[in-house]
Amino acid sequence: MQPDVHSFSNPHEVTITHSQFDLQLDFDNKLIIGKVTHHIENIASVNKLRLDIRDLKIKQIELDYKKTAFFNLGDEKPWMGQCLEIDIEPGTRFVTIYYETSPNAAALQWLSPRQTSGGVSPFMFTQSEAILARTWIPCQDSPSVRFTYSATVCVPANLMAVMSASNSIEKASDGIYHFEMKQPIPSYLLALAVGDLNYVSLSERTGVYAEPELIEKAAWEFIDIDKMVSAAEELYGPYRWGQFDVLVLPPSFPFGGMENPCLTFATPTILAGDRSLVSLIAHELAHSWSGNLVTNATWNDFWLNEGFTVYFERRIMEKIEGDSYVNMLIQTGYQDLQNTLNEFGYQNQDTCLKLKLKDRDPDEGVTQIAYEKGFFLLLTIEKAIGRVQMDAFLKDYFEIFAFQSMDSEKFLDYLRSNVFKDDANLENTITPEQWIYLPGLPANCPLVHSERFEKVDEAIRIFTLSWNPVYLDTTSWTTYEWLHFIRNLPFGMNYSVMNALDLAYAFMQSGNAEILCAWLLQVIMNKYEPAYYKLEIFLQTIGRRKFLMPLYKALIRTETGKSLAQAIYKKARPNYHYVSSASIDALFV
Ligand code: BES
Ligand code: ZN
Repeated sequence: MQPDVHSFSNPHEVTITHSQFDLQLDFDNKLIIGKVTHHIENIASVNKLRLDIRDLKIKQIELDYKKTAFFNLGDEKPWMGQCLEIDIEPGTRFVTIYYETSPNAAALQWLSPRQTSGGVSPFMFTQSEAILARTWIPCQDSPSVRFTYSATVCVPANLMAVMSASNSIEKASDGIYHFEMKQPIPSYLLALAVGDLNYVSLSERTGVYAEPELIEKAAWEFIDIDKMVSAAEELYGPYRWGQFDVLVLPPSFPFGGMENPCLTFATPTILAGDRSLVSLIAHELAHSWSGNLVTNATWNDFWLNEGFTVYFERRIMEKIEGDSYVNMLIQTGYQDLQNTLNEFGYQNQDTCLKLKLKDRDPDEGVTQIAYEKGFFLLLTIEKAIGRVQMDAFLKDYFEIFAFQSMDSEKFLDYLRSNVFKDDANLENTITPEQWIYLPGLPANCPLVHSERFEKVDEAIRIFTLSWNPVYLDTTSWTTYEWLHFIRNLPFGMNYSVMNALDLAYAFMQSGNAEILCAWLLQVIMNKYEPAYYKLEIFLQTIGRRKFLMPLYKALIRTETGKSLAQAIYKKARPNYHYVSSASIDALFV
């Protein structure tokens, strides 16, 4: 396997097998006072243990609970942080590090009470993927290294702490929580959240954590998660993580969801009130196989995490909602992919599935290429070999490579020895190497057609004849039909058309953040000023990068919009997590 260019660590010489964390949260100073004991296996009997750190204050290091160790800090590099090089001995078994995080640790977001639903208690959450774990824990921060962990976390007595591990379902009166993750996981799946949380159990193995104000709404929205877990198990084998809970975070959470094992982190913007956005949960659940069991070896193979997961997510949704629903998801994905290809250019190397992220922030690899081009490669394989063989292939894949790393080359080998065998014709039909190593979209990409979207396209056509929305039959539309409608409205709609649309469908009042965001994009593109106040509120309250980026990008495209964007961003930036603000900062340079 190729080395991980995003880690300073030397896991091939000495590996961490288990980590024991002792973390104390200091909300006043926005920092974690930490102690970690790494259990190590010194395979090559070396004298140095190299770890990744970024913005950490290292106070002291001990070997085998007694001897003070000498250590050295490497130069600081953008996004990579520093190498923490510790002198060890061939027989060293335990390395204990006493440290403190910085108030601007990139993984952590410290929220004041007014940034939460309750408005009374503060909140803190982490986001470790891709290489931010090193900003709160000194570790071998590479997805190719797996370790088990246990943790003791001490928080103010009225708050609850939860992790990507076994969790308690009630607050501890002393504010001390214990955690155990008995399956080996990579560092990017380390996660912690602390706040005024309640728990509602939804089935024997599923449940939801949220602030008290949101817990009922969340429990209603997620009532069918257990069905999803069963659907997933029928497809690709047993769910191996015990509990599957969802934590609903405050609105500044920068992603839709994050597949932290046992406890998926989710944006509150999926609480649409009609269960229409739960495919996001199917996605994070699917990662319990693709990603958390079989893990991309380096961030250059990120598509193996996300492309597989999108494929699996859609198979789960097909079982639950049927073909016509999934065809809408696939069509939406195809449009997203086309937009990305057009934006990047079909010759752009970043449109290859296998990425070259050396000397770059791995966050640059987080694009629709990994998700949707990855999905369409798997769909191409499925169409060529048939469902039955595809499912057998994937089930074996998750079984054989469980708790291991995977890269594109290993995947290709497996495909050759288990699917193509000696059938050169089949390999030529699928052309996996072209998909993985060449830019653009191969000609054999399957076309999927959506009857329900065709009806929406027809509605748009009728609308543009009269510019009057009254005549459209939209009674049976779900969120995805509405999104398709809004995104595909014609360019250059004037004030009265925008006004008529909003009067007819009350987009501005939508409690569905996806619909509101799509509409606000039209608002910007058509300079529909009566809605700008709503745009400003949206940008100030929601921190999900997928929503923020297109809105800021569209605003910046015009001179007047640019100064408006700057003014809004100045106020909103303190509400965003580092992941979102780092991306938006880059738009303004
Ligand atoms: N693992 C990702 C989120 C992620 C990717 C975090 C890369 C950091 C670096 C997660 O599973 C994801 O893909 N979330 C999507 C949701 C989805 C339904 C496609 C998101 O947040 O939009
Ligand atoms: Zn994902």
